[in-house]
Amino acid sequence: MSHAPASLHHLPRLRTRDLAQLGGLIRPGTHDSPLMALGKRFTVAPPGFPTMLITHDMDDVREVFTNHEDFSVGQLLKRVSNHDRLFGRETLVFLEGEAHRRERRLYSPPFQHKAVRSYQDVMVAAVQRELPGWPVGEPIEFVRVGYDLALGVLLEVVFGDVPVARRDRLRQAVIHWFEAIESRGFLVATMLTPLLGGYTPPYPPLRRGQALVDRLLVEEIAARRAALGDGVDRQDMLSRYVGTELDPHDDVALARNLRGILLGAYETTAITVGWIATMLAGHPKVLAELDSLAEDDARFDAYLDAVVAETMRVRPVSPFTGRRAARDTEINGLRIPKGTIVVLPILLIHESPEHYPDPMSFRPERFLDERPNGHTWLPFGGGSHRCLGAPFALLEARILFRAILEQRRIQPTTGELEPPRRLHTGLSPARNALVTLLPR
Ligand code: HEM
Repeated sequence: MSHAPASLHHLPRLRTRDLAQLGGLIRPGTHDSPLMALGKRFTVAPPGFPTMLITHDMDDVREVFTNHEDFSVGQLLKRVSNHDRLFGRETLVFLEGEAHRRERRLYSPPFQHKAVRSYQDVMVAAVQRELPGWPVGEPIEFVRVGYDLALGVLLEVVFGDVPVARRDRLRQAVIHWFEAIESRGFLVATMLTPLLGGYTPPYPPLRRGQALVDRLLVEEIAARRAALGDGVDRQDMLSRYVGTELDPHDDVALARNLRGILLGAYETTAITVGWIATMLAGHPKVLAELDSLAEDDARFDAYLDAVVAETMRVRPVSPFTGRRAARDTEINGLRIPKGTIVVLPILLIHESPEHYPDPMSFRPERFLDERPNGHTWLPFGGGSHRCLGAPFALLEARILFRAILEQRRIQPTTGELEPPRRLHTGLSPARNALVTLLPR
């Protein structure tokens, strides 16, 4: 006997006057949130937003990630966030169906494991260049370290060996553009977006910043085209496109996508670096374990990778992701009308004792024998829009902290871990991850 699908109206609903409780889903310690009383599926309809289904039923999570035809990330971003102003609607994250598959195939090769391993030397060189400049014996903001490193590595990996003046010009342009993104003016424009039905008002400093970055990127692409056939073997990302079978031949589109990649990579990497430093400093036993493995490269790297995975479990930069129903559809016996926003609370899933025994303990060991499970470990999202740069980000984190721990000690901190603060939709250490390095 088949059952008619249930309606969203049959689910528990969070009352509008309790909306503030939603904040409990993005702060560590989600299990203490009163929202838990509403069960694994509940709805909420904040003023100005379409109805939202919040679900941490794992069958739903899987279905929403894998059913790309009915659930769209681009439509969600357009409706509730500033991402279309930031990325442009033609970039990867906004595309769907065949158009997304085609573009993703085009941009994937330089991000696959084998290609990413070839950037290792560039990453090591960038870290070795920066590390001697970091103060010893006084707290430093590791999120700032992460920003400098992420941008340095990205520029080098993406553009390779360009003259210093040109690289500096690009670096400054990216930093200015980011200042516009982080400015109060753009924050206000962003806050208006859901209330204006998904329209983010234009913000001229952002437009100017983007236009300059795009212009410089197009110049770099042109320089690379001009150098084609000069016999030099270039391994940077741009050279892997220009003149190859992957070449989109549309320099403006290539520039826009490269800018999207810079944006997707920059802040997420910096914040993750900050959290890793915070977690290491806050867990002296973990530091001692790494010290004890210093002579055994393979076991050291395996434990360090587990530290990174565990950090991203307890402090995912994006504590939630979501999709918007592109048409009337159904998930696991629940009718989902077109336009419904489905929120997948990543942090809550990461803190569930069903998936992670003793979930509030920071225990890298849980990832030593088992690699993170793609269904329940979701700091990079899931499905066809899962982060393209995940292997890149993980390798970079390993290289950075391996170099730090080889050359410095991290001073353990006592007491409470640095709390998170909201940064856009993400969670960042409130004091930018203040951690002290000591001589080794
Ligand atoms: C620790 C660092 C990073 C984190 C936590 C992170 C996280 C994410 C998340 C949560 C998504 C959305 C996935 C979804 O909703 O299913 C995403 C998408 C994306 N990320 Fe990352 N990211 C990181 C680093 C990077 C890097 C280094 C790059 C590139 C070099 C990158 C490029 C992208 C791109 C292009 C997408 C869009 C993919 C698509 O729509 O097909 N990210 N990332």
